[in-house]
Amino acid sequence: MPRKILVLNGPNLNLLGQRQPEVYGRETLADVDRACTTLAAELGVEVDFRQSNHEGQLIDWIHEARGSASGIVINPAAYTHTSVALLDALSAFDGPVIEVHISNVHKREDFRHHSFVSLRADGVIAGCGTEGYLLALRRVASLTRG
Ligand code: DQA
Repeated sequence: MPRKILVLNGPNLNLLGQRQPEVYGRETLADVDRACTTLAAELGVEVDFRQSNHEGQLIDWIHEARGSASGIVINPAAYTHTSVALLDALSAFDGPVIEVHISNVHKREDFRHHSFVSLRADGVIAGCGTEGYLLALRRVASLTRG
């Protein structure tokens, strides 16, 4: 069975491609899902790609991943900057966690410069556009290679 990598997307990312395209680009989340699935096949891993606008749902999925995924790629979106609960859930997960931001959060408003999730993440990719997901996937795949 190929190792499973959970790719999680937080609030408003369902609107990727429509919302602030000057910041986040024109690709949709379905495009990103497809690109991740194509790369996963090359890397010999399986990707489980999900999005929710609800903090509790993201937390439940992270709990489930404890028994079913070997690593997590997460774009927590705005919860990055607010959610101790997401940090705690990720801290209860044993495998590698890579945090992704499409935009360069460090070039933006001050409130985006702090990430609760970074306190747990093994790596952070910001400002590489949606390609950041592919970089993160490669990293999790290499960290979980047996
Ligand atoms: C984001 C950056 C966050 O600050 C913002 O709230 C998002 C998306 C990014 O991918 O650049 O929704 O995580």
